[in-house]
Amino acid sequence: MGPGPITADPRVLRAMSAALVGQYDPAMTAYMAETQELYRGVFRTANAATLLVDGTSRAGIEAALVSLIEPGDRVLVPIFGRFGFLLQEIAARCGADVHTIEREWGTVFPPEEVIAALDAVQPKLLALVHGDTSTTVAQPLAEIGAACQERGVLFYTDVTASLGGNEFETDAWGVDAATAGLQKCLAGPSGSSPITLSDRAVAVIAARKSIEAGIRDADSQVVAHPIRSNYFDLGQILDYWGEKRLNHHTEATSMLYAARECARLLVEETMSVAVERHALHGGAMAAGLAGLGLELFGDQDHRMNNVIGVFIPAGVEGEAVRGALLADYAIEIGTSFGPLHGRIWRIGVMGYNARRDTVLTTLAALEQVLRRAGAAVPAGGGVDGALAYYGSAE
Ligand SMILES: Cc1ncc(COP(=O)(O)O)c(C=O)c1O
Repeated sequence: MGPGPITADPRVLRAMSAALVGQYDPAMTAYMAETQELYRGVFRTANAATLLVDGTSRAGIEAALVSLIEPGDRVLVPIFGRFGFLLQEIAARCGADVHTIEREWGTVFPPEEVIAALDAVQPKLLALVHGDTSTTVAQPLAEIGAACQERGVLFYTDVTASLGGNEFETDAWGVDAATAGLQKCLAGPSGSSPITLSDRAVAVIAARKSIEAGIRDADSQVVAHPIRSNYFDLGQILDYWGEKRLNHHTEATSMLYAARECARLLVEETMSVAVERHALHGGAMAAGLAGLGLELFGDQDHRMNNVIGVFIPAGVEGEAVRGALLADYAIEIGTSFGPLHGRIWRIGVMGYNARRDTVLTTLAALEQVLRRAGAAVPAGGGVDGALAYYGSAE
């Protein structure tokens, strides 16, 4: 019950144990095509360029940024938590001229603040986290996406923590590039990064494409300033996933099986029902924590459905409580980073764990552990708070 990684859905684990096939086996190329179509459903997009980058979520981030940014390009990064700083760092490593604006952790930007920064900075690319797991809040993106489109600014967003559990619309919100991971609301293991790219983003990448010397045709374009990573070169990765099936890396077959099953689960459930499920169980967890007399952290109007920040009560040693929950109940909850370290826990309700039984068991265990740690918690307050929430939501 942490902020991810979470318990994987057993269906995903079973899918990963299937026999391995080579990347040019017709069964495998069919799986790849099917996976692309499934992720179009998950990302809510018609983008042809929807595929997997092998590696954890930051592999997708690096692939998007290194492929879209040329050294010297101006990039705007609004930062409201740890993962905004990560985008800033990766963009800087790509050689971008990075401009930032910052908000206090636990808050989000009013869209007009980001739009004003777009006008002041006039970047080629806006890189903005959707749900920042470190602070538990999600940035509204629709207006910002529309403003980027009007201004011809490329819009990249990291939806690692939010996709599948919170409303997200690639096409309707004007997003040019979005990247995710499996280990949060997608109910899988870490190690594969689904990504989608608009035609506009693909055009930028295609103009920089340079195919490896050992496999290119005599008439392939060779550019003066190729994408500065081979592994994360989306130009070559698109050819690998596309009709050319041009050789690049060796596909991480078991991860592809996992990613495909994660998407199948969501598409079967439908995205809107999955988002409602996260909202219901996340809401019940928040109500239960309040029922224990604990104070919730962050702007609750913008809280992600799937992760709840809660202040560690005065006099209680946060790590000791986490340790006891794990040792006695096999329940893991999350610590926190940076300015929030030692001040809040982050409790995840996502993917396979977004269920009534997990919410109620966690609250019952937390009550008991908190009481042993010396906190005055109302008997049954957590479970009662959650049950009342479920009752009112019915
Ligand atoms: C919003 C967000 N972005 C990026 C990452 C980095 O992901 P990974 O550790 O899978 O590379 C995380 C991980 O928790 C995250 O929550």
